Amino acid sequence: MMLLILLIFLAKAPATQSWGSEGHYITCKIAQPLLSEAAANAVQKLLPSSAEGDLASVCSWADTVRSIYPWSSSLHFANPPNVCNYDYTRDCHNTQGEKDMCVAGAINNYTSQLASYGDLSTAVPYNLAESLMFLSHLIGDIHQPLHLGFISDLGGNRITVQWYTEETNLHHVWDSKIINETLKEFYDLEVSAMIEDLQRNITGGWSDEVPTWDSCSKDSLSCIVRYASESISLACEWAYKDVTADAILGDDYFLSRLPIVEKRLAQGGVRLAATLNRIFSSGIDFSK
Ligand code: ADE
Ligand code: ZN
Ligand code: ZN
Repeated sequence: MMLLILLIFLAKAPATQSWGSEGHYITCKIAQPLLSEAAANAVQKLLPSSAEGDLASVCSWADTVRSIYPWSSSLHFANPPNVCNYDYTRDCHNTQGEKDMCVAGAINNYTSQLASYGDLSTAVPYNLAESLMFLSHLIGDIHQPLHLGFISDLGGNRITVQWYTEETNLHHVWDSKIINETLKEFYDLEVSAMIEDLQRNITGGWSDEVPTWDSCSKDSLSCIVRYASESISLACEWAYKDVTADAILGDDYFLSRLPIVEKRLAQGGVRLAATLNRIFSSGIDFSK
């Protein structure tokens, strides 16, 4: 009986720290076909064999290790005070105030760890499979506007809202509810059909702006800060906008916010691929 209660509780508990599993799956599925040959080979080598070469199958792994790696919880987000801008020095820390322990710092850290792939001169002190799985997940998270939401409401987790007839919180609406409603309403629950539509937009309607998404002229950290800044701006302009505690969110909110969610999923995928392509563009390729 206790086990049953526990299982029911676990099934109902919202995942509070990420795009839901669908969002991460979509981001990684968009990224993988955009990899260069060198990056695709490195990813193939690094993935655990159980992934069978599919990056998307491990894109939510970072959420499953939160209990065995408690230090990793703060790596999924970064919260500004009640302002609509992001400042790395001010905002990138965990609850104990340790610097760099936030999503932007973690992406930077795993990017530099992965850059040691193929480095025969030194013994690599990291588990690069884990670095790849963290990086793939966290580039998705930094694109979820409320992962850069305000500290005062924990990125919308503390804002109770009604989603159609169901009580939830604003953070969860952006992690999962909008995506799941989209799958139900427009795609007959076929996630692959939604991915194909996003891919068609990347090569079609959005193709003019895509080069500006993945161009990263300065250092890697400044690009990451740009993704974070975009997210908090979108959180202010769209996620928090017109939402008061206990607001009822239905068709108007869903249909006006869906284009933002779609573009952030696509940008996450394109930028994950661009990041991996940059990381693996030099060095020795073990697969040859
Ligand atoms: N998930 C859990 N806590 C969070 C926070 N403070 N900000 C954003 N996402 C979160
Ligand atoms: Zn996450
Ligand atoms: Zn989340």
